[in-house]
Amino acid sequence: MFYHGACYYPEHWTPEQARQHIALMQKAGFNVVRMGEFAWSKFQPDQGRFKFDWLDPVIESLNKAGIKTVLGTPTAIPPQWAIVRYPDILQKDRQGHVRNPGSRCHCCKNAPAYQILCERIVREIARHYAGVDAVIGWQVDNEFGCHYTTRCYCEFCEKAFRDWLLAKYKSTDALNEAWGTSFWGFEFRNWAEVPLPKTMPAAPNPGHWLDFVRFSSDTQVKFMKMQYDILKSLCPGHFVTHNYMGAFPEIDYYKLSQHVDFPVWDNYPDPHGHPLAPSYAHDITRSLKGKFWVMEHKSGPTGDAAAGVLDEQPEPGDIRRWAWQSVANGADGIVYFRWRACLTGAEQYWHGILDHDGVPRRRYYEVRKIGEELARAAGELEGTSVETPVALIRNFDTLWSVERQPTIRGFSYDAHCFDLYTAAKANGHSCDIINTDAALSNYATVLAPCLALVDAPLAGRLEEYVKAGGTLVLTPMSGTRTPANAMSDQTRPGLLAPFAGLTIEEVRPYQHGQTHEVVFKTGPMAGKTATVGTWIEVLEPGDGVETIAAYRGEPVAGRAAITCNRLGKGRVFYLGVYLPALALREFLRDCLPEFPVKHIPDGVEVTVRQGGQRRLLFLINHSGDRRDLMLPGQFTDLLSGEAVGPKVALAKNGVLVLRV
Ligand code: GAL
Repeated sequence: MFYHGACYYPEHWTPEQARQHIALMQKAGFNVVRMGEFAWSKFQPDQGRFKFDWLDPVIESLNKAGIKTVLGTPTAIPPQWAIVRYPDILQKDRQGHVRNPGSRCHCCKNAPAYQILCERIVREIARHYAGVDAVIGWQVDNEFGCHYTTRCYCEFCEKAFRDWLLAKYKSTDALNEAWGTSFWGFEFRNWAEVPLPKTMPAAPNPGHWLDFVRFSSDTQVKFMKMQYDILKSLCPGHFVTHNYMGAFPEIDYYKLSQHVDFPVWDNYPDPHGHPLAPSYAHDITRSLKGKFWVMEHKSGPTGDAAAGVLDEQPEPGDIRRWAWQSVANGADGIVYFRWRACLTGAEQYWHGILDHDGVPRRRYYEVRKIGEELARAAGELEGTSVETPVALIRNFDTLWSVERQPTIRGFSYDAHCFDLYTAAKANGHSCDIINTDAALSNYATVLAPCLALVDAPLAGRLEEYVKAGGTLVLTPMSGTRTPANAMSDQTRPGLLAPFAGLTIEEVRPYQHGQTHEVVFKTGPMAGKTATVGTWIEVLEPGDGVETIAAYRGEPVAGRAAITCNRLGKGRVFYLGVYLPALALREFLRDCLPEFPVKHIPDGVEVTVRQGGQRRLLFLINHSGDRRDLMLPGQFTDLLSGEAVGPKVALAKNGVLVLRV
């Protein structure tokens, strides 16, 4: 079943308005809404009193119209009575200032009173809706960590951080050793001496900082587990999820996903941003459990609540293109945000399908058209998902380590992961975005950007993967650190050096825009050059290791920049440079399996969903112009019912869903 609907806030509207809304939703082919995630003050008007009569009739009317409900647990905003009664549940920021109420996400998940309040409300709501047919699932809270609230610096967190360290290190001696506290005399004799890394005159110890960031992420995971366990025990027939934020960097989504049935995420594409940015987030979310929905899907001009700014309208066709992009990348549900722009509150300038006046206009009719198309394709989509022979390792410890010490000003781990991702996509391949502990044997190629924090077991698994026939692509900074975020004492790339087949003679940070040319000797780029900068590594290939590209220009002329080591049945590529997009795309062609559609034009996205005997090829034109391409045959388009190919002219915003 494909789910299609909107986020709905009945607490903003009168019963008469709700009746009109439901009639319009039904005409748009909706079969689901999400409600309730900010309505704690409605559900529990006072500590001992719970109320559901404001919502129950709406759930019932929706159900009669064929629309099921996903309920949000409302824990992101406790009622004001709770804040007044338990003021110490408010978070503190790095400077020690209280995060004030009035908006959302201001409570500390380590505050005992907040935990008790949350358990109570979740239990009461779950009990009330456990037997209600119309409710199919739960979204826990809303966007954990939104508004930079993952990290709290209150007294409860300080205590919980010490407990977390005690569980991890057992003794302060072990902690001192791991963090290297002899630097700047930061040694601890007992746990009470360990502070949080609040604002301080100079930079924090990287070990201290990384453990705090891990602890803060674990705090969110623990909170999710608490709610997941309650909901699953009281409502075993309902699914439980949480709305993730794509490439959000502060929470280890691999860990969080141990406590969701499947993840969902909130997709607000920037019309001026990279068209594959949503796909990267789709792939991140999909790879966590193999299935996902988009729980908030852009359907109108978004905005900036703090600045009071309303952003641009999605142009005609944009919403449909983004919706099909979500489906093409594996989504099994699309829930637009929001049904109707709200008249009051901080988000007056964040529109949804309907404007403030509730009059259906072109965005509504576009959504209705998507509903018709989805209804036509739903049967074919059932049981299919994206499967790919390519994986990209995106690891949170590395991400956080680079966040604290990017080495080059402005360098972003995620931006680098995204460069590799888009290069794979340009060659036709989606990527599974995986953690360092994932099984690798199913992948023909594993891209491992900036894999800095490496221990012996990880190095061993990568080596085995290559020997068994895999292709591994490593990039700068690999193997330079220990899991404690200390620098490795081995020659770069540390524990990876023996099987990558090289050592690094010198690293050259170019902080002032310096560049070098690299000349390719072999591979798809043979004879061509690329300009590289920001950071270059001078490689010393071992015996029998091939130099793929070498530097031109002093003082590194002739030294290796990219190498390939053949090991067992596989290959390890090491890039000592950050290649520009076009060169990376072409270079990677040699590292990736063949893809049946060749010469994919810029701005065209290709994905494959498959399952059982079915294979669906999606082609989406994000470019803003017509795009021509060749397919390996003729196929039926599920949306138009027409035969397409081998020559295809894809119109602006064009979408094809081909049965192959
Ligand atoms: C999302 C959030 C929604 C709404 C929307 C518009 O991040 O989950 O509740 O705030 O943004 O700002």
